[in-house]
Amino acid sequence: MKISVIGTGYVGLVSGTCFAQMGNSVVCVDIDEKKVKELRDGIIPIYEPGLEEMVLENYKNGSLRFTTDIKEALDFSDICFIAVGTPMGEDGSADLKYVLAVATSIGQNIKRHTYIIDKSTVPVGTADKVREVVQKALDNRNSNLTFDVISNPEFLKEGAAVEDFMKPDRVVIGADNEEALNVMRELYAPFVRNHDRFIAMDIKSAEMTKYTANAMLATKISFMNEIANICERVGADVNQVRNGIGSDNRIGYSFIYPGCGYGGSCFPKDVQALAKTSKDFGFVPKLLNAVEEVNFAQKKVISNKIIKRFGENLQGKNFAIWGLSFKPETDDMREATSIVVINELTKRGAKVKAYDPKAIKEAKKFYLKDNPLIEYKKSKYDTLDNCEAMILLTEWKEFRSPDFEEIAKRLKNKIILDGRNQYNKKRVQEKGFEYHQIGVS
Ligand SMILES: NC(=O)c1ccc[n+]([C@@H]2O[C@H](COP(=O)([O-])OP(=O)(O)OC[C@H]3O[C@@H](n4cnc5c(N)ncnc54)[C@H](O)[C@@H]3O)[C@@H](O)[C@H]2O)c1
Repeated sequence: MKISVIGTGYVGLVSGTCFAQMGNSVVCVDIDEKKVKELRDGIIPIYEPGLEEMVLENYKNGSLRFTTDIKEALDFSDICFIAVGTPMGEDGSADLKYVLAVATSIGQNIKRHTYIIDKSTVPVGTADKVREVVQKALDNRNSNLTFDVISNPEFLKEGAAVEDFMKPDRVVIGADNEEALNVMRELYAPFVRNHDRFIAMDIKSAEMTKYTANAMLATKISFMNEIANICERVGADVNQVRNGIGSDNRIGYSFIYPGCGYGGSCFPKDVQALAKTSKDFGFVPKLLNAVEEVNFAQKKVISNKIIKRFGENLQGKNFAIWGLSFKPETDDMREATSIVVINELTKRGAKVKAYDPKAIKEAKKFYLKDNPLIEYKKSKYDTLDNCEAMILLTEWKEFRSPDFEEIAKRLKNKIILDGRNQYNKKRVQEKGFEYHQIGVS
């Protein structure tokens, strides 16, 4: 099939590459000229396991191309995915300016019937808006071309995006006619060969499904973090409580790990966007508001522990930070807890030495670029010298079994603050450390 993907970010690049891998011809479009040039030169703008090899292979064999010219892409394709960002607007709503700008370009440029697919995460009713905008642009051209708008929310996880796309748990399609649905069935058939994980529904329900999934996952995290905060105060150990409840198969073990808050480009913005949609329709979403409120506070749990331990004035003190990305296996730092923790410490005069296996470039370039009190190190152990404590914020595999003797030797005090509960408390304490976890007194 001939496919264009507009927006070559985490979702667009992974989707386009995976479609190409299955034998389709794909053109990925982006307005970012530098990104497109780099992709053509074989430089991959993001880190995702397995992505680089797949992009290079498909670019080399001609099934994947990159351009800044949407017209060229639409001239070529019958199926056009919209995969641009939907950032949070000032009032918490999803900002649709990029999606609707692309819809206008589509209306201005298509030359044949086109299946237009919303892959960006968009609020209920967006497909109708896209349809209106495309139709208006066609009317301005006096064109009687026809088109379909389909909703196909994306559920890939950063850090496992290629694997999730190639072997999805489900493919959700919202369409208003059988033919459009069949085109999507054909496109996704190679991805759901083992058993049918294709879920067809109406467009609004598909749009709602994506927000509901993210809101549910964020709720599980905030719920467990709230329980952790209670455990800490009453003298219980949330790690044991987690084991105790996870064994109930109505609850299960996944997504009930306590920690120092969720981040990333999706949960915070999607929970707030759903809350805003709900409010716009006259319903106050008390639970969704609380989920975000709990998470906002949770991002400060680690810095509050430090202030409690070392006092408000952190002048002259150094802290070692392990992990900057919002989760392991990605360089994405959007809404990462590390940003909050580091800024809370440095605004009280502390200096920070930080290490992350993949995200240092992002931190320096964007998210912490204005903070002069951070020194970036090439290895986790190099962060420790002359520091009051080691603070773990992202559960990268290389942090799981560190050399505690090396940590003890290099830190000024033998103190670890673990924002992801990675270590066995008893064993770390036996090594002479003062060890602080989330949800353990
Ligand atoms: N990142 C994820 O894990 C994830 C998962 C599922 C869904 N989503 C959703 O997918 C959408 C995209 O997210 P992302 O993380 O890939 O965003 P991103 O910011 O990584 O990428 C968006 C890309 O779109 C480009 N763009 C903007 N306007 C454009 C235009 N007019 N024409 C061409 N390109 C344009 C930008 O330059 C950028 O490269 C969002 O709605 C997001 O909520 C993201």
